Formats: sequence, C-alpha cells, structure tokens
Amino acid sequence: MNIVGIERIYYGAANVALATRFHKDYGLELLEEGAHGADFRLLNQTTVHIRRAEDGGLPAVTLDWPEMNDSTAREVVWGVDTAETLAQIGAEIGRDREVRADNEGVLHTVDDNGYHIGFMVTRRTRQSTPFPDTNSVLNFGRRNRVAEGTIRKTVSPYRMGHVVYWSPGDIPSLAKFYTERLGFKITDDMTKGGLFMRCAGSWDHHSLLLNGGKHRGFQHVAYEFRDFDDVMFLGTQVEKGGWKTNVGPLRHNVSSTFSWYIWNPAGGLAEAYSDMDCVDDNWTARKFRPGEDPSFYGSAWKARPEQGDTPPAMWKNDVTAPGFPEK
Ligand SMILES: [Fe+2]
Repeated sequence: MNIVGIERIYYGAANVALATRFHKDYGLELLEEGAHGADFRLLNQTTVHIRRAEDGGLPAVTLDWPEMNDSTAREVVWGVDTAETLAQIGAEIGRDREVRADNEGVLHTVDDNGYHIGFMVTRRTRQSTPFPDTNSVLNFGRRNRVAEGTIRKTVSPYRMGHVVYWSPGDIPSLAKFYTERLGFKITDDMTKGGLFMRCAGSWDHHSLLLNGGKHRGFQHVAYEFRDFDDVMFLGTQVEKGGWKTNVGPLRHNVSSTFSWYIWNPAGGLAEAYSDMDCVDDNWTARKFRPGEDPSFYGSAWKARPEQGDTPPAMWKNDVTAPGFPEK
C-alpha cells in the first residue's frame, strides 16, 4: 500500500482570522478566504484548510486536554499513489471500522488513537529543489559567486513532511494500525518516548510520530524547506509577523533535521525543517533509552536554549493570551 505522504490537513480554529494570517506569514499560497475559513496551497500542490472550530462539517475534536482551547487539527488526509491503492486501503480498514467516502472520493475514518484521518489519490507534484553550491574546508563548490543565503527573500514551504500526535497509552499497539494495516515502517523507537514511522512511499525518516504523553492531541505538522538558509529565513519572517517561537533553531539528533518550531494559532506547532535523514528498506531502526542514550530525541545543538522544554500545561494554543508562551 503506497501511501506517499500528507495530502491535506484540516484545522478547526477558535480564531479563523489569526489562523489565516499565520499561514499567510508562513508563506503558504492563499487560494480562498472567507467567513468560513481559508484554503492554502503548498509548492507541491498539497493543501491546508482553516475552518471555524464550530464548523459542523469538520470531524470531531480529538483532544483530551482541559488546558487547551478548541484550536487543533481535525483531520490529516494521506495521499496514496493510485486508485487501486485507495481501494485496497478502503477494503482493509473497512474490516473493523467505519469508512466514509465523500463526493470527491476521499475516504474518511479514525485511527486507533481516535484521530480522524483520510485517504485520497495524491495530486502532488514531485519536483526537487536545486541545492545551492557550498564551500567547505578545501572543498570549493561555489567559486567566484556569493552564497545564495546572502540574498534576502521571502520563503514558502515545499510540502508537509510529517505530523506528530500526542499518544498516551501503549504506543507499539497504537502503531500497529499504521504498520500492519497501512504499510508504514518503523524507523526509530524512543521506547516510552514514541515511535517514528515513515509511509511506504516515502524515504523521509518519518512521516508520522506517535509521541508519548499524558494527553491526546495534535502536536505538530512539519513543513519542508530547501536548506538551512530557508529555514532561517522562514523563522525570522514568521517572528517578524509577531508569532512566537516554541523552540529553535536547532539540529535534532534523531532524524537529523534542522528545525524551527512556531506556535500555530490553528493548532499545535508548525515546524520548519530541512535536511532530514533519507532512509529506505536498508535502514535499521534504532531503540533509544530515554535518559540513558545521549542520542535520545532532542537536539545536538539549540540556538535559544531558554525557549525549550515548554511544559505540557503551556500547550494551550492561545497565542493571544498575555505572556504566552512564557512559563
Ligand atoms: Fe517534527
């Protein structure tokens, strides 16, 4: 079953105007905007949809977290390679749960955590971004030219790379829906910290992380950018719009991404990243022991250490609250 990646994400936002402005500042292309919400497109043609939290057309909220407000992702729709794959997925998951096809042919259901998910034949484009030449010690990939990163610009994310759900409970059991029913591959195991998985049609280190925690709730979506400079441009461009950094910039030591996380008024965080590990079927999943292995999920370096480790009680999404997200 070749699921190729995230195709759409639907948010129910307590404040549609804030959520819409955030995604404009993030560089997404606005397709449509109105009282009902807004639709955005990424460079690979996948889409992000903002709706009012009380919109009756959205799937129900999956959030067991009294401190949070109603802004959260309501549904993540996965793209698949062919109509045959879509039919296979419908038949497989229809064995033990309700699957509803809408008038676009998108299949809707819930995973074993209770998160609403969908499947559709992908409409994405697959153009790679040219990587800028760089210089290193006695390696001169760029001669007689200035670095592209010296040229200030507005950046836009290329695509959505992964989503992360807080997942209380038995994560290996919860992951089986994805690995045994949908063909996802486990790429790294953080023991109680969670399981990283990639969908079979992607070499990203992870397309999905079920992250250990006490509450259910959507944690973040990650947007891929070309390189280090573009992530830095993005972070500064979004902060300039008045949005708050959760943590970053940093270099993760699991999956290797160079990342910058910003609080998203539509729900959870929006992570900007580049340079993720590319893994295929020859990759061997590692098992990390929290608190023992130095390479446990975290950062190799973090530019603003004071901004890390936001306690779960601060995961409120209410970016308009005084002092948010300060402890
Ligand atoms: Fe992430």
